[in-house]
Amino acid sequence: MKLAQQVISAELTQFESRFRDAVKSRVALLDRIMEYIVKRKGKQMRPMFVLLSAKLGGEINDSSYRAASLVELIHTASLVHDDVIDDSNMRRGFFSINALWKNKIAVMVGDYLLMKALLLALNNREYVVLDALAEAVKVMAEGELLQFEKSRKLNLREDIYYDIIKGKTASLLSSSCEAGASTTFTDPEKVQKLKVFGEKVGMAFQIKDDLFDYGSQDIGKPTGNDIKEKKLTLPLIYTLNNCSADLKKQLIYIIKNQNTQKDKVKFVIDAVVASGGIRYAEQKMESYRDEALTILHEFPESQVRNALEELVRYTTDRKY
Ligand code: FPP
Ligand code: MG
Repeated sequence: MKLAQQVISAELTQFESRFRDAVKSRVALLDRIMEYIVKRKGKQMRPMFVLLSAKLGGEINDSSYRAASLVELIHTASLVHDDVIDDSNMRRGFFSINALWKNKIAVMVGDYLLMKALLLALNNREYVVLDALAEAVKVMAEGELLQFEKSRKLNLREDIYYDIIKGKTASLLSSSCEAGASTTFTDPEKVQKLKVFGEKVGMAFQIKDDLFDYGSQDIGKPTGNDIKEKKLTLPLIYTLNNCSADLKKQLIYIIKNQNTQKDKVKFVIDAVVASGGIRYAEQKMESYRDEALTILHEFPESQVRNALEELVRYTTDRKY
């Protein structure tokens, strides 16, 4: 991520200060929570995609910064809500908002962040940027609901898995690149290209995230959580569709009835590894990455393009 950070280093500092301002609140409790959120910032990959997509088309301007803040506000809101939905107590290596302040507060904090995003766009008449991002929020909620519906029925279909991750993750990355590009490019075709680029990156990003759940590295949030939540992701979907009938029965029984027992969850993880489910998901992730890079290479070579390429490669090679 070094080159990306270098190419937009001044802009990232500027973004951080604007983001801090964007989440200020006069309500003491909210302000405390906002401070907690700002301090435990994530990798800031989405704002980086916004700013680099913008810089690919020209000088980063006020609208580009607002697009970056908007995206980070929406992303943070979605994670605060997601940890309530997934009943997860860790995020970015620290306690989640619901773990520290309980679900009721976390739900309101997510709503607050979302409304801050909406107001930031409206108060500055950022209608083009808002248009790109409002669609993403809707699609994200649809993706989460589809995931919920399918987890109850133990979805085994790969195409439905792709629909889910396209909604919950790829839509925001796609809109991030689109929104950033819309602040500098004049050619709508180029903006469209970056939108598709972002979608491919987003697909690769979520497959990587789902692969982490099968690992044992410290990634700042719990692993094995997907099985606990009956979330069938690509490594497991592949395994269930390609293993013996006996093993399939056994695995489904565990996912349905013993998903909170550590040794049983480990049995599932070991079976996924042994059946090649991890390697299969990695290949799919790499193929989305390559699709993204092919689109990116339609733009002339430059330092900004190289930085975007590096960020794409980071998405699939990252350790957390
Ligand atoms: C993380 O997935 C969650 C998302 C990528 C999207 C969450 C979307 C919503 C809650 C709906 C939209 C809501 C708002 C406020 C915009 P995960 O649970 O697979 O990953 P994790 O391991 O990081 O929790
Ligand atoms: Mg989650």
